[in-house]
Amino acid sequence: MVDGLPASATAGVLAAATTAGGVASPLYGEPPIIEVRDLTISYDGQPALRDISLDIFRHEIFGIIGPANSGKTSFLRTLNRMDGFNPGMDVRGSIRLNGKDINDWRNVYALRSRIGVVFPLPVGLPLTVYDNVAFSPRLRGIRRKADLDEVVERCLTRAALWDEVKDRLDSLGSLLSGGQQQRLTIARALSQEPELLLLDEFSIAVDPVTTMRIEDVLRELRSELTIVLVTNLVQQARRLADRTAFFLMGEMVDIGATEDLFEGRVRDERTTGYIEGRFG
Ligand SMILES: Nc1ncnc2c1ncn2[C@@H]1O[C@H](COP(=O)(O)OP(=O)(O)OP(=O)(O)O)[C@@H](O)[C@H]1O
Ligand SMILES: [Mg+2]
Repeated sequence: MVDGLPASATAGVLAAATTAGGVASPLYGEPPIIEVRDLTISYDGQPALRDISLDIFRHEIFGIIGPANSGKTSFLRTLNRMDGFNPGMDVRGSIRLNGKDINDWRNVYALRSRIGVVFPLPVGLPLTVYDNVAFSPRLRGIRRKADLDEVVERCLTRAALWDEVKDRLDSLGSLLSGGQQQRLTIARALSQEPELLLLDEFSIAVDPVTTMRIEDVLRELRSELTIVLVTNLVQQARRLADRTAFFLMGEMVDIGATEDLFEGRVRDERTTGYIEGRFG
């Protein structure tokens, strides 16, 4: 078995898209959105991640925890072929998005537009708040002001930023606070209408209150898309992730329902050691 599925995820029991409360649950009974097989990533011949196989399911928040240098960011980078930016980076094995090998996408930009990325530090474009969010919709050919206004408001609202910036849409994004800029980055990622959102330690430069607001945003977004959440905060994975993988020194040591890992039902004792803060 490739994946650590929750015990309840048998026979498509969890295949229903929504629960009574209208909140989406992961579609464990359906084909995965991401299938990773025998993935090995090296830099200049030095392996950074070895022989990873896992599946990620639609409407899942998939957490990845692990100490520094365990290969978490490298893993995210390969999902949307950002390895193309780094000539020393070698990727072996296969990654499928919706059943199609990511290397079979002729147009890498089309692939990347399916996948939104949020980095540890906000990387705002040197543009106004409005133009940061309107950038990608304009590239897609949306021109009418009313249509752009609608997209900008919707994405900023989904990123829990609209109320704070609706009166300063024309000021530079870089003048917002760190926490606001990080939410602007999320709004911009959402403006691509991605089906997969990758977040790499998004709360590193964000205060705890904003972190909680963004966590609420992610919980809500889960009903629309799939999220891969790399976090150095194990409790954040516990709060948010449906399943969690533990990476350690380039190895996937564990994978399972978050609840299981945090309650000690682990494959490897090192997982419990890390979760309990005995190393890291
Ligand atoms: N561009 C690069 N060139 C060479 N080696 C790299 C590069 N990026 C990462 N590495 C190496 O790959 C390994 C994994 O790094 P990676 O950034 O994926 O880890 P990480 O788990 O994200 O760590 P952190 O928690 O510090 O962000 C490390 O040994 C790192 O030195
Ligand atoms: Mg990293």
